[in-house]
Amino acid sequence: MRLFTGIQPSGDLHIGNYFGSIEPMISAQDEHDVFAFIANYHAMSSGTGAERLAELTIQAATDFLALGMDPKKSTFWVQSDVKEVVELYWVLSAFTPMGLLERAHSYKDKMAKGIAANHNLFSYPVLMAADILLFSSEVVPVGKDQIQHVEIARDIAIKFNNAYGDIFILPEYKVDENVKTVPGTDGSKMSKSYGNTINIFGEEKKQQKVIKKIVTENVPLEAPKEYENCNVYNIAKLFLSENDCIELQNRYKKGGEGHGHFKIYLAEILWEYYRPYREKREYYASHQDEVREILKMGADKARKVAIPMIEKVRSVTGIKY
Ligand code: ADP
Ligand code: TRP
Repeated sequence: MRLFTGIQPSGDLHIGNYFGSIEPMISAQDEHDVFAFIANYHAMSSGTGAERLAELTIQAATDFLALGMDPKKSTFWVQSDVKEVVELYWVLSAFTPMGLLERAHSYKDKMAKGIAANHNLFSYPVLMAADILLFSSEVVPVGKDQIQHVEIARDIAIKFNNAYGDIFILPEYKVDENVKTVPGTDGSKMSKSYGNTINIFGEEKKQQKVIKKIVTENVPLEAPKEYENCNVYNIAKLFLSENDCIELQNRYKKGGEGHGHFKIYLAEILWEYYRPYREKREYYASHQDEVREILKMGADKARKVAIPMIEKVRSVTGIKY
């Protein structure tokens, strides 16, 4: 089955991104036909400057390759290297009622805040529909915030198919309830926008500093401690085997250690966990030409699927004459 996903190149990756979306996608590569791309056209709607956008795009590619994106098993490319998507975006916009986009939350939220929206943001769901439909994606694994976008893609596909026959596969979203929501250093959902993140590839000293700031209960050193609601424990358990989890629980229950000790432990296991990925990242960071070559090959692979579809679309819509 084809699993399809777009990744916005929006900055340093944190461990919430890792457990919420990267790790599930990486481990799906053995069983599924993973199609993953860096959504750099999409990132334009957040007003990233030119230089920064280019930098973030190559950084995202480097990070994903380091974390195990395997270009031999999967198809991995940068959105703008497969320009057919922009052509399809235009065609699909002829099948997109204004009302459908006016109800889209990314646009509605901005308007509600009194922020002037541009057409790029307004039509963002149509570009996302083009991404999905161009590659005949059956299942689109998403976080809850993206469900509406997949539904819009489905609505557009139905309208198009009604006019021209069964050209597009109707995509379905999949929200994996087993995927964990990773808490941030303050206990609320880890997110860049809340400033409570622990980055995957931070410097060691910086990471230790961030971990030290994790909010914990104020309990005397010798007292037994609760682990269930402890932010340090809840982050640490993501990295631990069942046995190591039980061992850590026992340390909490026994008392005699403070949260400071558990924080040092968390910093250590986190650093060890990402060691092989960090090494791979260092390799790719100093071989950026190789990264560009991989992306080019990925785009060629993606275009093999995109071209027959866009040809079909041109033909049924009368664009091909
Ligand atoms: P942020 O909230 O930091 O801006 P993004 O919205 O860019 O993160 O998220 C990219 C991906 O990472 C999404 O698929 C999202 O579901 C996942 N993700 C982000 N934060 C978390 C979290 N705290 N727990 C689980 N998954 C997360
Ligand atoms: N809009 C998605 C996000 O912000 C990224 C994305 C773009 C995407 N095109 C996609 C996700 C197609 C899935 C399928 O996270």
